[in-house]
Amino acid sequence: MNKHPLTSANGAPVADDNNSITAGKRGPLTFDNHYTFEKLAHFNRERLPERVVHARGSAAYGTFTVSNSLTHVTLAEFLQEVGQQTEVFLRFSTVGGGQDSSDYARDPRGFAVKFYTSQGNYDVVGNNTPVFFLRDPIKFPDFVHSQKKNPRTNLPDAAAMFEFWANHPQSLHQMTILMSDRGIPASYRHMHGFSSHTYSFYNAKGERSWFKWHFKSNQGIKTLTGEEAASLPSHGAQQDLVESIDKGDFPSWTAKVQVMSEQQARDYKINPFDVTKVWPHQDFPLIEVGQLELNRNVDNFFAENEQAAFAPSNLVPGISTSPDKMLQGRLLAYQDAHRHRIGANANHLPVNAPRVPVNNYQRDGAMAGMCPFGATQNNQGSEVNFYPNDQAEQGAPQPNAQVAEPAMPLEQDAWINRYSTDEDDHYSQAGDLFRLMNDDQKQQLFNNIAGGLQQANASIQQRMLGFMAKADKAYAQGVSDAMNAA
Ligand code: HEM
Repeated sequence: MNKHPLTSANGAPVADDNNSITAGKRGPLTFDNHYTFEKLAHFNRERLPERVVHARGSAAYGTFTVSNSLTHVTLAEFLQEVGQQTEVFLRFSTVGGGQDSSDYARDPRGFAVKFYTSQGNYDVVGNNTPVFFLRDPIKFPDFVHSQKKNPRTNLPDAAAMFEFWANHPQSLHQMTILMSDRGIPASYRHMHGFSSHTYSFYNAKGERSWFKWHFKSNQGIKTLTGEEAASLPSHGAQQDLVESIDKGDFPSWTAKVQVMSEQQARDYKINPFDVTKVWPHQDFPLIEVGQLELNRNVDNFFAENEQAAFAPSNLVPGISTSPDKMLQGRLLAYQDAHRHRIGANANHLPVNAPRVPVNNYQRDGAMAGMCPFGATQNNQGSEVNFYPNDQAEQGAPQPNAQVAEPAMPLEQDAWINRYSTDEDDHYSQAGDLFRLMNDDQKQQLFNNIAGGLQQANASIQQRMLGFMAKADKAYAQGVSDAMNAA
């Protein structure tokens, strides 16, 4: 008897997996080919819809080790004691391309970390850049449409990209990073990660402070020029990550935070909740929190990478949101995407399941009860399925007011704001970044922008050059010269 019998989906041994059943040797298939039909039908259902953005990515598991306790600012259990370890899962990605695009696109890189903490899963769904192109979620679909493929040609459309940016001076800062020498990381190991958004900590005294995450690559930064990137195989970053971990060369990042008090936020010269701006390090220094190491590859790319579900709304006591408008939009978008892409019970899948019991009154739905850990294992079995109830003594789950976060401060005399104008300083930080670059980096920036901007019309070119001139006259001049030289 075969030790590992081949079975059909119902677990029954299969006699022949090479030939369908036929009426006679040369005849057509018979209707009792249910095993062939099962194979064909399952094959038809192998795909999930790919992520609408960040479709192409690579992921691995690892460990987060605390090097500095944050007890004074947060009651988050996983940040309390030096040496404390938490399992993590990190997915890197490009943004605009589909699943079969190149790892080496000039594109931001996703840097999404899931901490499997003892108080539930905490996700930092960040990028490799400290800022973003936009600061209002209402613009996200238009932005993504302009950066993905042209609806007619199905080809990348540099003119559309610049048309969007020419209508959004708020994008200048991130566009400058994207077009700089840092725009194409040489691998996922050689780039930093950022929460980009401002989140909040709150401590046991109920005091809130605002903070941002920075994950600094211990491998250092390595980048590619456009020409170098074009010569590499599209799967290069995936291969680099898998092979490094397989041979025990574990990549790691030093996790740091910038912290701002509520009072500092009220008085600070820039809006700390505007994700198109950084917090200058001289005003808000980086504080080391821990080391994040990746040390285990996924066993199954589809189960663990494609079905992974990260959400900025996955928060734990001691960590909360902020008034950042983009973050608010994202609190809705990701869970919604998971329901569409994976299903109502996406969090029951092993890669997404908390490592602690999930006890609540949610039940049923497609694939309920898949979770291999804790109470959701069997759709929470015979436990009571309504709340409130009289069964606390018998173990029915109860809310815990002690984890309630303190009230979130609003602007003084805040009113519901139905119309805003986009008047702001979108230029100073882009100019500061430009002035930090050496001559070679500046020339790369000029050439990278010129290549795309040339494909846009004269009005778009003039507006873009106008934004750059407000950041630094030499920035606009350099791009203009590069366009003329080409
Ligand atoms: C309002 C603005 C935004 C919206 C509506 C939005 C929406 C989405 C959606 C729908 C997905 C696919 C989720 C899935 O299918 O699992 C996604 C993925 C992702 N987004 Fe955003 N996004 C926004 C802004 C941002 C920003 C500012 C960042 C970084 C700071 C970011 C980082 C990511 C990352 C890293 C992923 C991939 C997560 C993974 O690896 O599975 N997004 N986004």
